[in-house]
Parts: sequence; C-alpha cells; structure tokens
Amino acid sequence: MRQSLLLLLCPLLMSGCSKADPVIAGDEEFHRWYTVEQVASGNIVFQQNCAQCHGEQAQGLVSEWRVRLEDGSLPPPPLNGTAHAWHHPKSVLLQVINGGGAEFGGKMPGFAAVLDEAQKLAAIAFFQSYWTDEIYAQWMQMGGTN
Ligand code: HEC
Repeated sequence: MRQSLLLLLCPLLMSGCSKADPVIAGDEEFHRWYTVEQVASGNIVFQQNCAQCHGEQAQGLVSEWRVRLEDGSLPPPPLNGTAHAWHHPKSVLLQVINGGGAEFGGKMPGFAAVLDEAQKLAAIAFFQSYWTDEIYAQWMQMGGTN
C-alpha cells in the first residue's frame, strides 16, 4: 500500500528536486499532522483547483507576489513555505480556501461549495509537504493545527 503510493508520488518527488523535496511522510517521523495518502489526494485537488494561480508545486507564479497589481489586488502568493501562509493556523487556511479573497478585496475564488472538507484538508497537506521542517516547526509553535 505505502509502496504503491510512493510510486504514484514519484513524478512529484522528481519535479521537486530543483526546490526543496516534498516531505510526504505525515507520520511520527516528521511530526506532521497529515498522511502520505492526504498528500497524494491533495496533489490531485491542487492541480485541478489551485495550480493555475499558485503554481504546480505551490511555488507561486510571480516573484513579486508582494507588489499589488494595477487593480490594487495582490497576485497569488506561493504556498510552499516561502511566503506567509505558515503564519496562519489550519483553521484560518481553511477559512481562506472556503471564502476566497473577496472579503479583503482579493481575487481568489471561494471553494466552500466546490470542495468537501477532506479535499480542502488534502490541498493543505499537499502544499505543506513543501514546507521545510523548520517552517513547519514555526507554524506548530504558532498553534498551526488549531
Ligand atoms: C484565480 C486564482 C486563484 C485560485 C484558483 C486559487 N487561489 Fe489561493 N489565492 C489567490 C490570490 C490572488 C490570493 C491572495 C489573496 C487574494 O487576493 O484573494 C490567494 C491566497 C491564498 C491563501 C492565503 C495565503 C497567505 O499567504 O495568506 C491560501 C492558503 C490559498 N490561496 C490557497 C488556495 C488553494 C488551496 C486553492 C485551491 C483549492 C487556491 N488557493 C486557489 C488566487 C487563487
């Protein structure tokens, strides 16, 4: 079971080599809240719903993601631990995914009615698999899994 999932994830691992390798094990060894299975299903959810804006490896599409666009909105930030997604606990990440950015003048669409709870959590697991252990530990210190 575990073996076949790892095979499934191989392309992910290989394309991740230029950046940080994804941490796919969500078990005690890495102290992550998610499982390998969630990262695998999150990959599918993410590619279908999020990658067009946040990049296939959650790396973001523009380097100047802090600079507002002409219409005053912000470009989609990277979610791979290099921007500030790790400042938000899981409950807040879920709120953003559910409500999108409309509330604060942003352009991200809301996914409340598009994805179920398991898919949203899997998408979070997927982009967190790119977080270094250091970033993940800082997120945990700030109450990450709350
Ligand atoms: C149409 C483009 C678009 C799509 C599709 C999209 N996002 Fe976003 N996302 C954004 C933008 C733009 C922002 C910045 C806030 C804003 O302007 O709405 C953002 C912000 C976020 C944030 C907050 C990041 C931070 O650092 O605070 C998270 C988390 C997030 N998106 C996750 C997702 C997930 C997960 C999906 C897929 C289910 C997704 N987004 C799909 C454009 C998008």
